[in-house]
Parts: sequence; structure tokens; C-alpha cells
Amino acid sequence: MTQLRVGPTAVECVRGDITCQPDIDAVVNAANAELRPGGGVAGAIHRAAGPGLYEECRPLAPIRPGEAVITGGHGLPNRFVIHCLGPVYGADVPSDVLLARCYRNALRLAAGRGIRSIAFPAISAGIFGYPMEAAAQVAVRTVIAALRDPSSVRLVRFVLFDGRARTMYEALLIASIGGTGSPTTTRDTRPGTTDRLVGPGGRGPY
Ligand code: APR
Repeated sequence: MTQLRVGPTAVECVRGDITCQPDIDAVVNAANAELRPGGGVAGAIHRAAGPGLYEECRPLAPIRPGEAVITGGHGLPNRFVIHCLGPVYGADVPSDVLLARCYRNALRLAAGRGIRSIAFPAISAGIFGYPMEAAAQVAVRTVIAALRDPSSVRLVRFVLFDGRARTMYEALLIASIGGTGSPTTTRDTRPGTTDRLVGPGGRGPY
């Protein structure tokens, strides 16, 4: 199996549901400022985690665009949830800077807890209106750059809800490794995961 690696860390993208990633230490929530159960990713995470998650979130709110806070996973199969408030596209500005801050802050929190694996949804690319391709560019570029710093994280997974988004991430990950080698798509039978990209070894240009 080949993999996109940034130093010691594997980076992959899959089509699936962020609440069905049982092999991952920390899943990231595309949260609202009040850290309430909402729709989209936040709704799914709070539903799966149960009411204890909001109890733990309440004293940590509100958060501002670009910020991240960490809680336990409660009823989720993950030890931690990292809640990020993405920018509302075009209203919280500069949106790309604030979105990048979400990914960096989430990875910092993960490293601070010795977390080894983390799964991100496409923060801001739903109700907050960030165009998927632009959001994917920020996500991939920022994560790859951040992983150059020493970290406990050994696996970053982008979990995309639909095939179109996954294809965009796939193309960006391939571009990030300079177009060398021949990335492959392999089937993955874990719950909530339909397929994953793994690319050839080597460091990206970021
Ligand atoms: N797993 C993975 N991805 C998901 C899931 C899921 N269960 N549910 C939705 N998505 C996808 C969406 O299709 C979108 O591409 O995640 C991306 C982010 O969508 P949102 O959850 O709408 O996140 P965001 O755009 O950051 O908006 C946050 O939405 O629900 C409210 O309370 C939340 O106010 C906050 C806002």
C-alpha cells in the first residue's frame, strides 16, 4: 500500500460519515459559536455523542471563528472531539485565514494531548457557504504545512460526505505531492467509509 506521507504522518481522504470513524482518536466538529447541537456535522456529532457532549461544551462557549476547543467523545467511538468554528464565507473575513486557523488550532490541540489520529470534515463548506474547492485547498495546504512541526499525530483523515468533494481532495492531495508516482484508490470496509485515497510516498512541496 502506498501513502501520502508528511514526515512520519499519513494523510488520506475518504468518503464517509465523521461519526463513523472508530479507529480515530479525535474527530473534528464543524461547530457553531455556542457549541450547540446544530445541523450538518454538528448535529450528527451531538446526536451520536449524546447529551453529555453539550453539557461539557456549554462552559467552553462561545468561541470565535478560527478557534478550537477539545472535549471528550462521550457516546462516539472516539476519545476526543475537537470543535472548530469555521468562518461564514464572505462574512467572517479574511475567510481563508480564519479557515486555516481552524486546522492549525485543531492540530495544535491534538498534539497537546498526544493524539495520534484525527479526522476532519470539510469545515465551513456546508451551511457556512465556503465553496468546496476553495475550502479543500485551504484544508490540504494548511494541514500539510502544519505537519512539518513536530507532533504526536501520525494519521490525518479528511472525511468527505460526497464523492465530488472526495474527488477534489484527492486531486489536491495528488497535486501536493508534486504529481509523482501513481496514487491509488482502494476499498475500505470500515463502517461509514466507502473508499479512501492513498498516494505515493514522499514529502509534498509545502
Ligand atoms: N460527516 C462528514 N461530513 C458531513 C457530515 C457528516 N456526518 N454532515 C455534513 N457533512 C459535510 C457537509 O456536506 C459539508 O460539506 O460537512 C461539510 C460541512 O458542513 P456543515 O456541517 O454545514 O458545517 P459548516 O459549513 O462549518 O457550518 C457550520 O452548521 O449545523 C450548523 O451548527 C452548525 O452553525 C453551524 C454550521
